[in-house]
Amino acid sequence: MKIKQASVNAEDMEKMLAVSPYNRIALEDIEPIGNVSMFDTTLRDGEQAPGIALSPEDKIRIATALDDLGVDAIEAGFAASSEAEKETLRKIAGSRLDADVYSLARSVKADIDAVIDTGLDCIHTFIATSDLHMKYKLKMTPEQVKERAVETVQYAKDHGLTVQFSCEDATRSDMNFMKEVLLAVQEAGVDSVNIPDTVGVITPRAMSYVISEIKKAVKVPISVHCHNDLGLALPNTIAAIESGASICHVCINGIGERTGNVALEEVALNLFANYGVQTVDLSKIGQTSKLVERITGFPMAYNKPIVGRNAFAHESGIHVHGVMNNTATYEPFLPELVGVDRKIVIGKHSGVHSVHGRLENLGIEFPEEKMEELMTSIKDIASGGKEIDDAELITIADHIMWKKETIDEAVNLKEFAVFTGKDITSTATVTVDIAGKTRTVSEIGVGPVDAAINAIKKAVNDNMSMEEYKLSAITGKSDSICEVTVMVKNVQDDCSMSVGKAVGLDIVETSVDATMAAINRDYARQRKNNGKNNC
Ligand code: KIV
Ligand code: ZN
Repeated sequence: MKIKQASVNAEDMEKMLAVSPYNRIALEDIEPIGNVSMFDTTLRDGEQAPGIALSPEDKIRIATALDDLGVDAIEAGFAASSEAEKETLRKIAGSRLDADVYSLARSVKADIDAVIDTGLDCIHTFIATSDLHMKYKLKMTPEQVKERAVETVQYAKDHGLTVQFSCEDATRSDMNFMKEVLLAVQEAGVDSVNIPDTVGVITPRAMSYVISEIKKAVKVPISVHCHNDLGLALPNTIAAIESGASICHVCINGIGERTGNVALEEVALNLFANYGVQTVDLSKIGQTSKLVERITGFPMAYNKPIVGRNAFAHESGIHVHGVMNNTATYEPFLPELVGVDRKIVIGKHSGVHSVHGRLENLGIEFPEEKMEELMTSIKDIASGGKEIDDAELITIADHIMWKKETIDEAVNLKEFAVFTGKDITSTATVTVDIAGKTRTVSEIGVGPVDAAINAIKKAVNDNMSMEEYKLSAITGKSDSICEVTVMVKNVQDDCSMSVGKAVGLDIVETSVDATMAAINRDYARQRKNNGKNNC
């Protein structure tokens, strides 16, 4: 096994795997696969994804990260597309990366001249070989296509370039014609040939057939380029490698035209876990994926294999319990293998084990007898799908642990509604029940919280003044749990100050809850003192 991993040895890496034992058994009948080169096209096919536009600086940053990850080749752009692209390629050519840096070029002399102009050493030329493309797009005969492919490969070789040649739409091309073209470019000195499944239309079995046929015909290394239109980019790439392809085109996070190209991280992990072949420094996959996601602004699906935010996130009680005892129960490999983190999510599906375990990890000794109350709060807050993070969990737990004895609620809030908006005076209506008597009151305020508190005061006790109001959003995000602390003073009895605290998702609702808690505390004290003035 070729080792590219910086700090971990192969044996330790193997120990991080928990894949099916049948994977290796099933390979006993086939020819073992040798080294596989990663030809990364994030900066070319990846950038062609609608919605992605990279600046020269972006491309240089990503190229440097890809080089650091250990890919063998980087297709950094399409020189003929613009002067700016040529300039970027020139800069990448000058940055002395270990990877071979390629530019794409149509089988057109002007495109090859544009690549020569950048100072790059490697070129990827292509021309379509399917009847469909030749007739409707190129409007060329097969003979003209073959001649052009050979002429341009020859021209690039004459200028000292390393050349990879692609039969565009290979998987819908006539096999005999494709072989003819590939043999002719081989004769012209091509260094490798690429078989693109341009529209993602082949199946793994058919890909095996195509690559095996081509392998019978050509001697140069065979590359494969799989699109994901039918969700088969990964199995097709693996099938091609099993059948003799030794180079594969990949994109970080699977970006690319339409539904994208096969994802580098998925190919790398499958080759390592199931075939024992190491292609890149796996531990750098997480950071490279995040960098590409951030720079391209192309959001990754939560459930994206290997690098999606849910790839190692566990919420349901049964899964968390399993993972806490042995991670292999619900993880195919350890997240540290690819440089990402495991996440135990506290949410609607969490069980007591996960919450307990999380609190323990956070150094909080939470009383067993209050666990039920904590679980109810968590489920209430998370019922809309919200994930509760550590800071929020601490706040809720803390609130429950330090909540004073439950107070008999003399005042009950039956209903409340707030009407607010831009250029509208916020108005709140509350209905309270005080010792069996119901009162409904409306009041205005500067904003919904003020209106709600004013309405409560008016309904319950106009002699109450709000001395302090404190609000904090625990995570600093807009969907954060908030904590509200209020201090109310009963101005009839200026010695009595009552504090109310609440945590919740909605600022207005939580402010109302905190105010009601303070009011009930005030009522309880008055009851205790038999209404005597304490001053
Ligand atoms: O998908 C494709 O066919 C391509 C070629 C340019 C290789 O991206
Ligand atoms: Zn493509």
